[in-house]
Amino acid sequence: MIKPSVRSQPAYTLAALPARRKLNQNECPFDFPPELKREVLDTVASQPWQRYPEFAPPDLLARLAEHYGWVADGVLVGNGSNELIQATFSVTLGSGDVVVAPAPTFSLYRLLTAVMGGRYVPVPFADGLLFDVDRLIDTARREHARVIVLNSPNNPTGSALPEGAVQRILAETDALIVCDEAYQDFGGPSAIPLLARSSRLVVLRTFSKALGLAGLRFGLALAHPAVAREIAKGKLPYNVNLITLAAARTALRHAPMLAARTRQVIETRGRFIDRLRLVPGLTTYPTSANFVLLRCRTIPAKELFRRLLDGYGILIRDVSDSAQLSECVRISVGTDEDMDAVISALGEIMPVRS
Ligand SMILES: Cc1ncc(COP(=O)(O)O)c(C=O)c1O
Repeated sequence: MIKPSVRSQPAYTLAALPARRKLNQNECPFDFPPELKREVLDTVASQPWQRYPEFAPPDLLARLAEHYGWVADGVLVGNGSNELIQATFSVTLGSGDVVVAPAPTFSLYRLLTAVMGGRYVPVPFADGLLFDVDRLIDTARREHARVIVLNSPNNPTGSALPEGAVQRILAETDALIVCDEAYQDFGGPSAIPLLARSSRLVVLRTFSKALGLAGLRFGLALAHPAVAREIAKGKLPYNVNLITLAAARTALRHAPMLAARTRQVIETRGRFIDRLRLVPGLTTYPTSANFVLLRCRTIPAKELFRRLLDGYGILIRDVSDSAQLSECVRISVGTDEDMDAVISALGEIMPVRS
């Protein structure tokens, strides 16, 4: 009874391999501070757990609106931003509707398109893994795309859309543009200022990366209030639990402190890239995210992945099976100590150019 379009898709999975240095999921390298955890737990301990959480807590929506620079009735909260991709697709895609997205990108877009019965049309990145905005527009027009998904900075390439690209894509296509800004805290332009000008735009943000709350699952969508009201119909009621709601409030209350940690990751990234460029046998792609994509020129990517894990306890992501990414790996930016360990391991593993 399972739809053939679903059966033909690979599942979204990731083996949880134990490792001393976990640099495979672009998480925050710092745990949520203990005093903030305590604040969350104290709040939640005093709340009644037998009651459902608030549906769309007005105070939290107001704080999110203020934090991101949008209006409260245009904010939706989700159990991770992934849930809001699903909700958006579920209210927009019918059988055969086309989703256009750059390739390679976050694989969930393709899977969810298939689950909804839509047709996924990937548009390859241009040379140097840059967004090919002209080709995205041409493809969306030719295919009568209903939705265009833009992940900027893009996972797994790290590429950011150029300034003005979303505005152009909005002007030159009729599609709903979903901008997944899971990594925007680390660099690249945001589409949020365009929300005031177009109701064909949905911007997704997450607390899983820069804000360090991946384990509690919190994300949000920003859209024109009329669009947000419709996307809300695709969400399950009470989708965000009490603990996560409390953690999101705490994270917002301490946003400046958490932003300082993001700046630290950005600085570490800069130092890491400078040193990577000195390692023989690697091509390093420019990144605006909290991860770096590397192409191995002298040993297979799968061998590098294995040797880092087995020999040094460093877990990275082998992305070499994706189209356009042969012999590529993706390394999340961790602490300075993590990145020192990576550089020193690479120095031992990578054959020196003869
Ligand atoms: C592009 C992109 N969007 C969304 C997510 C997941 O976000 P969340 O944890 O908010 O569901 C990820 C996680 O890796 C991602 O890479």
